[in-house]
Amino acid sequence: MSKDLLARHKAVMPSWLSLLYEEPIELVSGSGRRVLGSDGVTYLDFFGGILTTLSGYGVPEVVEAIQAQASKMIHSSTLYLISPMVELAEKISKLSGIDGAKVFFTTSGTEANDAALLLATGLRRSNQIFAIRNSYHGRSFSSLAVTGNRSYSPTSFSPFNVTYLQGGSRIRGPLANLSDAEYLRRGLEDLEDILQTCTAGNVAALIAEPVQGVGGFSLPPDGYFGAIQEVLAKHGILYISDEVQTGWGRTGDHFWGYQAHGVSPDIITFAKGVGNGLALAGVIAKPEIMDSLGASSISTFGGSPLASAGGLANIDYLLSKDLQSNALSVGKLLRDRLVAGTQHSKIVAEIRGKGLMLGVELCEPSSTVPSPSIASEVSEQAKARKLLVGRGGIAGNVLRLAPPMSLTEDEALEGAELLCAAIANVESTRVSGSEG
Ligand SMILES: Cc1ncc(COP(=O)(O)O)c(C=O)c1O
Repeated sequence: MSKDLLARHKAVMPSWLSLLYEEPIELVSGSGRRVLGSDGVTYLDFFGGILTTLSGYGVPEVVEAIQAQASKMIHSSTLYLISPMVELAEKISKLSGIDGAKVFFTTSGTEANDAALLLATGLRRSNQIFAIRNSYHGRSFSSLAVTGNRSYSPTSFSPFNVTYLQGGSRIRGPLANLSDAEYLRRGLEDLEDILQTCTAGNVAALIAEPVQGVGGFSLPPDGYFGAIQEVLAKHGILYISDEVQTGWGRTGDHFWGYQAHGVSPDIITFAKGVGNGLALAGVIAKPEIMDSLGASSISTFGGSPLASAGGLANIDYLLSKDLQSNALSVGKLLRDRLVAGTQHSKIVAEIRGKGLMLGVELCEPSSTVPSPSIASEVSEQAKARKLLVGRGGIAGNVLRLAPPMSLTEDEALEGAELLCAAIANVESTRVSGSEG
């Protein structure tokens, strides 16, 4: 059945639309943190449809809100007033941390970043953008142009003039193995040098992920982006925080990733978890920035009655259940178990991240040489143990763990045990003399 679907998929879908696993599966239903695959196996899901099933599968409060709205009005377009959209914007504006923020809804993170870049470059009358090495901001012409990840960059054509700053990996590259203070000092020194040598002066904006998602949950020290913004602000350069993966409490210690850095963003973009799987995303901006476009615009699908009603129910759910606190405490438990279970591993180069956003970097034994093949094997071994995990990192060598934020302690312990067993199994075949 699944083999037949795979053949049909390959026949009509682009070759570059990558699938996980040697034998890809379809996820046909879900409940809580578990999904049923088309192979008849129930998996514990530690990736949540790429950090998108935030509250969990089949959450009655969210499902019922979607059903109720679907029976009344699915779509009308932004040419008409949409009360769930306005209510959602009011809620997000208040949560954003930006005074008087306005919100524009889109259907994907890519489109949200595109809108943010349109606003920033238009307002600043400049196509110069700062982005971060090892970043990912989407798959369109504009968002790829600010994506510093070779694996996802199919073209060098660009609407922008982009300079990439430091701020990604702590274990390789020019800022590898530095203390927090030294990392910060060197990053700032690099920024000052770039401002003096590589720009025409009026850079429009920096776009940055507080924790790099596709980049393998790499992150600079807390406070780093605040220090960077202090320099940018002196030049009038806007700060765009891409919160597509880090928003809504995912990092545990804060509601938005930017809050760990003391940043005051001019623009925030969001997507993924807000709709718990519905196509809901958007851009939040200071009112004078949002209103600066000099022409009319519409969004056919953005903020549709259906997506907005689901988004409202999901935000109410995640706030009332305090899923941020759960991400903090259960994320810590998961991390502690993983660290303990892999402390003697030679193929685990680093375990990092925040809250329920944890990366396990897999490398050639006793090195920091990325090993996508080890990551593949571990991921297959985890699947064989009924655990789904994501992949990321510059070479696809990082396992990304980002389960629904409603993960229970028991599920965290179960997942940690399964993953440690998968790692030990692969390690025993890769490292001679390994105890397994
Ligand atoms: C940080 C970040 N920004 C933007 C995007 C693009 O979002 P979408 O896939 O919804 O277009 C992603 C997707 O993974 C992302 O991780």
